[in-house]
Amino acid sequence: MEGHKIQKICIVGAGNMGHQIALSAALAGFEVKCTDVNEEVLEKAEQFVTTYLPERVAKGKLSQAQADAAGANLAFTKNLAEAACDADLVIEAVIERLEIKRKLFADLDRLCPPHTILTTNSSYIISSKIADVTGRPDKVCNLHFFNPALVMKLVEVVKGPHTAEETVQTLMDVCVSMGKTPVLLKKEIYGFLVNRMLTAIKNEAIYLVDMGIASPEEIDTAVTLALGHPMGPFRLMDLTGIDLTYIVGLERFQETGDPAFRPSPTITEKFIKKEWGRKTGKGFYEY
Ligand code: 3HC
Repeated sequence: MEGHKIQKICIVGAGNMGHQIALSAALAGFEVKCTDVNEEVLEKAEQFVTTYLPERVAKGKLSQAQADAAGANLAFTKNLAEAACDADLVIEAVIERLEIKRKLFADLDRLCPPHTILTTNSSYIISSKIADVTGRPDKVCNLHFFNPALVMKLVEVVKGPHTAEETVQTLMDVCVSMGKTPVLLKKEIYGFLVNRMLTAIKNEAIYLVDMGIASPEEIDTAVTLALGHPMGPFRLMDLTGIDLTYIVGLERFQETGDPAFRPSPTITEKFIKKEWGRKTGKGFYEY
């Protein structure tokens, strides 16, 4: 924008989503720096990359040269300032808590050059809840990837009232360069398109389990075989993280007071027991 082509991307948050977005961008030829405050999360992300790339080469999905180039394009650092200082685009993928995101965007606004576009990969939170902490609301937008980000093709680009058309266009182009298909939401709405629909399915599935109508396995079988989804809602919650389902539900309940959003007994119990899905080795299923 204003002559700034996107070449350098900073990913903040190396967790479930962040490291796969980072690797997708590196594979597409962007120069990527991925940062996280948590040393362990960073190490795990780096470890993923060092096993994933050779596996893709062995599987015939990548040439050795492509894997080497992606590896060279991607750096991990604990230092936010170092990751942000020359970025053309930041994609924030940290925990789904508004206050943490607001603090981070204020920091990013200070650390990044004036031309940098700041985006959030938040699953639900619209960027107008964040943009006001920056001096560049016209360059703030939602850019929402799906899990697993290396595989899923869709990206939701959600334009806030503060977001400039030019920012939106640049982001749509970046998505295409990453081999993704962007869909533009011209107005902000909590949960965007996909998670609104997914939440309806998840809530109904949890209700059916809580009522003792069927087990998670039976519901997953029903959804995969009858609706043709690649995985049922419980396997999917294990993939995306039961902690996320809990935190998002609780925040929404606290914000709106609507009991429909209050995490169900099943989700609350799993959250307390740290049975968060694949990331902790156990959720509705064991891994
Ligand atoms: N990371 C990276 N790549 C993965 C992966 C992972 N965790 N899991 C699978 N893959 C890749 C495999 O390497 C394989 O690649 P290839 O065909 O190029 O060799 C391909 O995906 C297929 O893998 P498998 O054969 O092992 O397994 P499946 O065919 O069962 O696919 C799946 C796995 C892609 C996860 C598929 O089950 C699926 O699409 N599930 C639904 C996922 C979904 O709905 N995602 C959206 C969630 S909502 C969300 O993200 C919102 C957010 O806000 C939380």
